Amino acid sequence: MDGFACEVVTRPTSAFTLAPKSWTHAEAATITTAGLTAWRALIDDGNIKAGDTIVTLGTGGVSIAALQIGKMMGANVIITSSSDEKLERAKALGADHLINYKKHPQWAEQVMEITEGKGADHIIELGGPGTLEESANAIKVGGQISLIGVLTGFEGALPTAQLLFKQVRLQGLLVGNRDQQQAYIKALETNEVHPVIDNTFNFEALAEAFEYQLNGSHFGKIVTVW
Ligand SMILES: NC(=O)c1ccc[n+]([C@@H]2O[C@H](COP(=O)([O-])OP(=O)(O)OC[C@H]3O[C@@H](n4cnc5c(N)ncnc54)[C@H](OP(=O)(O)O)[C@@H]3O)[C@@H](O)[C@H]2O)c1
Repeated sequence: MDGFACEVVTRPTSAFTLAPKSWTHAEAATITTAGLTAWRALIDDGNIKAGDTIVTLGTGGVSIAALQIGKMMGANVIITSSSDEKLERAKALGADHLINYKKHPQWAEQVMEITEGKGADHIIELGGPGTLEESANAIKVGGQISLIGVLTGFEGALPTAQLLFKQVRLQGLLVGNRDQQQAYIKALETNEVHPVIDNTFNFEALAEAFEYQLNGSHFGKIVTVW
């Protein structure tokens, strides 16, 4: 898309924030999309509290940022992955409960067990149509599902009855604003949390970076550096 992967970008100063102190450029690059979207979903729109249970899907950039934010705020974090090895890595970052969604395609049952039948307060929904039904099964009555990702595509049926009867707040969102980014950066600095970068590629190898992302072996962020 025009405007991405440029060598030089000119924008008004109001389009920028300071990066967290002492972070590398590669680390700072993880903030503006993956991290900020997770922050806005959980903090500004989700208003999560210590003790809330959040579910985040997979172990890519957004999900690992959501895990870190959830733990900063004292939430119980349930994370899903197709890989037990990745789940162990998520546990080392503080994840409280681990679900392998390949072994448990109906992972909402695990969420219900973990939450003693109540359901999760908040779900970071990254799969889209292919996972929304399980998310609707896993959310509590009155809970919030942040529809951020479309890893399974754009088209699909809505779990209308579950959303209605559970009085779910289903919110689509696109990244966040400058104030939210500044608040996120402050929280990262205060809590001394750094992003998880799986791999970095030279700018010339941008296509390889996308191929690497497509093969799905990464954990956290993939970054290109100039
Ligand atoms: N709305 C916004 O503003 C916004 C902002 C950022 C990203 N996004 C979108 O959010 C999604 C995630 O972005 P990302 O950067 O985190 O992607 P990513 O780093 O490529 O994450 C991919 C990971 O998601 C997991 N995954 C894939 N299919 C899954 C499924 N069916 N169920 C559960 N987990 C699944 C896999 O984790 P495991 O290998 O652990 O299974 C995979 O490694 C993308 O669709 C992206 O376009 C939206």
